[in-house]
Amino acid sequence: MNETLHLIFKRSSCRDFDPTPLSHEDLKVIAKAGVAAPSGMNAQPWHIGVITDADIITELEVEGLANLKKTDIAGYTRIQLRGGTLFYHAPVIAVIWVRDSYKSGAELLDCGIVTQNIALAAQSLGIASCICGFANYAFVGERTAELTTKCRVPEGYRFGMSVLLGRADTAGTAHEPDEEKITFVG
Ligand SMILES: Cc1cc2nc3c(=O)[nH]c(=O)nc-3n(C[C@H](O)[C@H](O)[C@H](O)COP(=O)(O)O)c2cc1C
Repeated sequence: MNETLHLIFKRSSCRDFDPTPLSHEDLKVIAKAGVAAPSGMNAQPWHIGVITDADIITELEVEGLANLKKTDIAGYTRIQLRGGTLFYHAPVIAVIWVRDSYKSGAELLDCGIVTQNIALAAQSLGIASCICGFANYAFVGERTAELTTKCRVPEGYRFGMSVLLGRADTAGTAHEPDEEKITFVG
């Protein structure tokens, strides 16, 4: 199996990070892999925020958990069962912000491809990841404007998806690909 296929089959979500920071060089190449993603009509309707400030990450976590509790009690309960953290002590959150005014119908798909590029680039460097949709909850409450400013979100962009990054304290296990979900025709 070649290296790329090996990476794809080995990737798994990490939910127990070592909070030690990652190097700027690693983060630069991971973010660059993100913006190398294809997009419909090459619109690139995204901006990547690489958040490494531990105080900001804590603020996002506290706000996200409070808003999750208010609006999605099932999700909040699931997080409590997983240890009560949204970000699992990850030292880095890469947020893919999506351009508000761009409505091709594929903008979230574009954003998803960036997300996977980031996860696989991290994996190739031995860095664990967890795609984290729940980070969205940090940007839906009364503190949205303040936190948007703190995270230096460009004007006219909103949350698309995020990827938690860091070294794994406990590594995940790759799920078994379900080949029943494949049909060959011809
Ligand atoms: C769009 C999307 C959003 C996700 N959001 C979360 C999340 O908020 N928290 C979390 O722990 N995992 C999240 N995940 C990770 C999934 O739970 C995980 O990918 C899935 O269970 C399969 O496990 P694997 O990644 O180890 O293969 C998300 C994954 C995707 C693709």
